[in-house]
Amino acid sequence: MSVLRSSGSQLGVQGQSYTTSGKHPLKTAHDTYMGAINDNSILRKVSTMANGQNQKILLASRPVGKPTVNDFKITQDSIPTPQNGEVLLEILYLSLDPYMRGRMSAAKSYAKPLEIGDVMEGGTVARVKTSMHPDFKEGDIVLSYSGWQSYAVAKGEHLRKIDPDGAPISTALGVLGMPGFTAYAGLLTLGKPAPGETVVVAAASGAVGSAVGQIARIKGARAVGIAGGADKCAFVKNELGFDAVVDHRSPDFAAELAAACPKGIDVYFENVGGKVWDAVFPLLNTYARVPVCGLIAQYNQKPGDTEGPDRFPATMRDILTKSLTIRGFIQTEFAAQFPEFHAQAAEWIKNGSLRYREDVVEGLDAAPEAFMGLLEGKNFGKLLVKVGKV
Ligand SMILES: NC(=O)c1ccc[n+]([C@@H]2O[C@H](COP(=O)([O-])OP(=O)(O)OC[C@H]3O[C@@H](n4cnc5c(N)ncnc54)[C@H](OP(=O)(O)O)[C@@H]3O)[C@@H](O)[C@H]2O)c1
Repeated sequence: MSVLRSSGSQLGVQGQSYTTSGKHPLKTAHDTYMGAINDNSILRKVSTMANGQNQKILLASRPVGKPTVNDFKITQDSIPTPQNGEVLLEILYLSLDPYMRGRMSAAKSYAKPLEIGDVMEGGTVARVKTSMHPDFKEGDIVLSYSGWQSYAVAKGEHLRKIDPDGAPISTALGVLGMPGFTAYAGLLTLGKPAPGETVVVAAASGAVGSAVGQIARIKGARAVGIAGGADKCAFVKNELGFDAVVDHRSPDFAAELAAACPKGIDVYFENVGGKVWDAVFPLLNTYARVPVCGLIAQYNQKPGDTEGPDRFPATMRDILTKSLTIRGFIQTEFAAQFPEFHAQAAEWIKNGSLRYREDVVEGLDAAPEAFMGLLEGKNFGKLLVKVGKV
């Protein structure tokens, strides 16, 4: 199996592992920060262990622009008790994803926003501690949507069992989970790359982008990645095997992207928006397809913020004159394809054609800082929080 894992952040390449960074300065192992985190961004440390307690991270306020630690509140509660048809879960891994920024905002979107005081939402991999459901037993590993907390009660029908012998259980939140599926469904259903075509994807070292480029290559297309910084670019080219990569932080980014796409762009998998879109847009070929998956460069915008010029008239002109297909999607739209994706991706991982990297931070209390970093490109690979002892 070809695996590139980082944990806290340790990176393993086919069996080896080494440390890449310790970039979460507010995090101290086993420390717990509690109460409103609002003392001029200084976390108030009030206890050292969450023993026998359920540690939770709540939405404390709605961010204006970039989230700060003041927007999160860490609390402790008693561990909940499952009723008939439910299980008590000990959370092992929490997935941190860009969509969570949307949930913190009251702006109308495809999903309901969180209320102030709600536990932050999120996908989790958990161990069943107590089962009151006939299909689950103590020790089972499951995929749940339990959010930023160390324990949770869930109804059995909301859980999916994970085979711990199939692949590392964390992959259920990354390459074999929602982000990998997003790449698969968005690229193949909407992007429809043909052999020899050029597929460009931004955030190319991340959870979705890394899979997009590799699947494009599996389908015979030429994959060009866009990533931030030399280390991520080297990883995308050398470890993931993209045909070319361009650094969006380079002052000559637009010219470098044009040079990397001498035959133009047939599929642009949009993860970012903003300046990256400005550089991609003139390179789109007639009949190009643009699955619009994410616009992370805009997620921290304040009301009234605009980045760059008004792109609307030029975009509409080229949609017409180049017969472009620009199609937004939310991965749940393609849920029926998940079993097919899972079987196929597991096979690709086994035969080495789909590689992945995880960036794992230790301890639930590290989640706010890690999440804020994700929105600025500080993660390197699928961002996960190791919450419990695996
Ligand atoms: N539509 C759906 O159903 C769906 C599902 C999952 C994810 N998504 C979207 O897919 C995109 C990627 O998500 P992911 O989970 O795979 O995250 P990720 O790529 O693992 O992490 C986010 C990356 O975005 C890049 N980034 C952040 N701010 C940026 C900026 N201002 N300009 C350019 N790049 C920036 C950074 O990479 P660099 O340092 O390389 O720039 C960062 O590492 C996001 O937009 C997300 O919202 C959509």
